[in-house]
Amino acid sequence: MFLFYTPSLKVFCGLDILKRRRIQLFILLACLLALAESGCPDFCKCTSIAISCMNRDIDRIPNFDSINVDPITIDLSGNRINIIDKVDLHFSKSYMVKEVYLNDTNLIDIESEAFNKMENLQELYLGNNLLTSVPSDFIKDLYNMVLLDLSGNYFEGDMPVIQSESLEVLTMLNCQITSITVESLKHLSNLKLLSLEQNNIQHIDTNAFESISTKWLMLKLPFNTWKCNCQTIKALFFLSGHKYIDPSDQYECQINKTAIKIFKSNEFIEEFCDISYSNGQNQNVLGNDDLLPMDDNNAKPYDLQKIENTLQEEFENENKQGAEYNQNLPTSSEHNKIDYLSISFFVVVFIAIAFILKRLILVEYKNMNESDSTTQLL
Ligand SMILES: *[C@@H]1O[C@H](CO)[C@@H](O)[C@H](O)[C@H]1NC(C)=O
Ligand SMILES: *[C@@H]1O[C@H](CO)[C@@H](O)[C@H](O)[C@H]1NC(C)=O
Repeated sequence: MFLFYTPSLKVFCGLDILKRRRIQLFILLACLLALAESGCPDFCKCTSIAISCMNRDIDRIPNFDSINVDPITIDLSGNRINIIDKVDLHFSKSYMVKEVYLNDTNLIDIESEAFNKMENLQELYLGNNLLTSVPSDFIKDLYNMVLLDLSGNYFEGDMPVIQSESLEVLTMLNCQITSITVESLKHLSNLKLLSLEQNNIQHIDTNAFESISTKWLMLKLPFNTWKCNCQTIKALFFLSGHKYIDPSDQYECQINKTAIKIFKSNEFIEEFCDISYSNGQNQNVLGNDDLLPMDDNNAKPYDLQKIENTLQEEFENENKQGAEYNQNLPTSSEHNKIDYLSISFFVVVFIAIAFILKRLILVEYKNMNESDSTTQLL
């Protein structure tokens, strides 16, 4: 009877130690877990590919230096961050970031080097801020930039000059821009879509498009304050003829509070070109080849609507994929928890098995010795 109880007692003792060990181990792991999670700034949410600090009323860019996720997207929109200086967005994982949202966040100023460390940046959203200018070279060295949204700012005057060899989509809706200059298009050699709806453009200088280096470009210019005169007609027909604009968009000018559809009103064309040229210069203004929509063999080999649709689709798909990807992935903290819990589980089980085996072997060995000695004694 005594011999029977000893090993089980010993195993119990062993389990006691094991329990203590297990508690210590869990404390250690809890500390590790806490450390692992602390990478995400307090007021932000981190997943394995995104950091969101949207609508958190923060007034400066948080410190992302200790994040341990690989952020593809950073959303800082809906805050009140006035300035982005040189180092605000320089952190160890800056190079991973492809999309930055800084819209609706009271931005007044951006330093020209603000985004330099984000060498893989593709999309930058700076809409609905208080910007009156942007440094012309602030995305110049970002060779993957595809989309820049500056809509809803206060540029008031010439379209800002932006330099980028890769940028494909530039949107500046509702920015109080009054003109497009040669300079504003000169440094955007890969631009495919320029959206300038709802600005204060009264007329356009077609010279800006004569020196353009981009292969094909689509301009969105409806809902501007076009002046009803022959110069406007000439310029818009030139743009339509070169397929820079889509004449089925709403191009109107206002005269005596009446909106006139520029591409749908022959009377208007005749009337206003006659008025402009009534002081005996050139009555036959529309006889000029530049003015008329080109026939198909002169037209550039692309379809405006198709480009727009494709771009739209691409962005929608990208967003959808991003969203799905986001949904399917566990959040980083969940991710970490899963990892640490499974590791801790295996460690505990391993130690437990090793411990029990050792005890059992020891006990068995002792038993054998004892029974041996008993037999010998007998
Ligand atoms: C910022 O822009 C993105 C994309 O357009 C939009 O989904 C998001 O709601 C905007 N943020 C705020 C705070 O409006
Ligand atoms: C617009 O109003 C001005 C002055 O009120 C008038 O002289 C002109 O003929 C009007 N133009 C048109 C197109 O109605």
